[in-house]
Amino acid sequence: MKIFIDSANIKEIKEAVSLGVVDGVTTNPTLVAKESRPAKQLLEEICALLPGPVSAEVISLESSGMVAEARELSRIAKNIVVKVPLIKEGLKAAAILAKENIKTNVTLCFSANQALLAAKAGADYVSPFIGRLDDISQEGMALIRDIRQIFLNYKFKTQIIVASIRNPVHVLEAAKIGADIATIPFSVIEQLIKHPLTDIGVQRFIEDYKKIPK
Ligand code: G3P
Repeated sequence: MKIFIDSANIKEIKEAVSLGVVDGVTTNPTLVAKESRPAKQLLEEICALLPGPVSAEVISLESSGMVAEARELSRIAKNIVVKVPLIKEGLKAAAILAKENIKTNVTLCFSANQALLAAKAGADYVSPFIGRLDDISQEGMALIRDIRQIFLNYKFKTQIIVASIRNPVHVLEAAKIGADIATIPFSVIEQLIKHPLTDIGVQRFIEDYKKIPK
């Protein structure tokens, strides 16, 4: 499973990339707004931090506007992937962009049928938001299982990005199901590393090393 970091924060992305475990980045307008910087400049900087895909989202609601934004975004760097919302106009835009070889991530996916349509439209990635489903008492991971099954049935090339991840169990379940990618907030990446027995073990080895005669 590939790991993307779900962040627009340069410090977090640099730190996560230095761990050697990050294959890509996903951003959204909420994450970009937190950085209080012009989006284009920020995305340029993020794209230079790693060779992998960096998702940047359009905000138009009409396919023509989405396509115009996508063309503009794709000029920022080779590794830009354009995020379009899973609405009628977003599907139209994904279909047009597929013909132009501009990579797309169809986002805000909350049902398996929506994911099926994203794949049919030629999306490179689809992003089901599992945490937001959990928030409304629906099992987000059940959606990932369904999409995985459907994409396997028909050998769709669209990659599943498990998004809206909130905790390490989400990551574990995504990997067990066989999702292509999990996009993970920095705080959760840090949680994945931590284990109390590792910390106790490291401490004990340091103490015992001191006892070795020099
Ligand atoms: O990047 C999209 C997604 O991961 C957002 O997560 O926590 O705002 O539902 P969240």
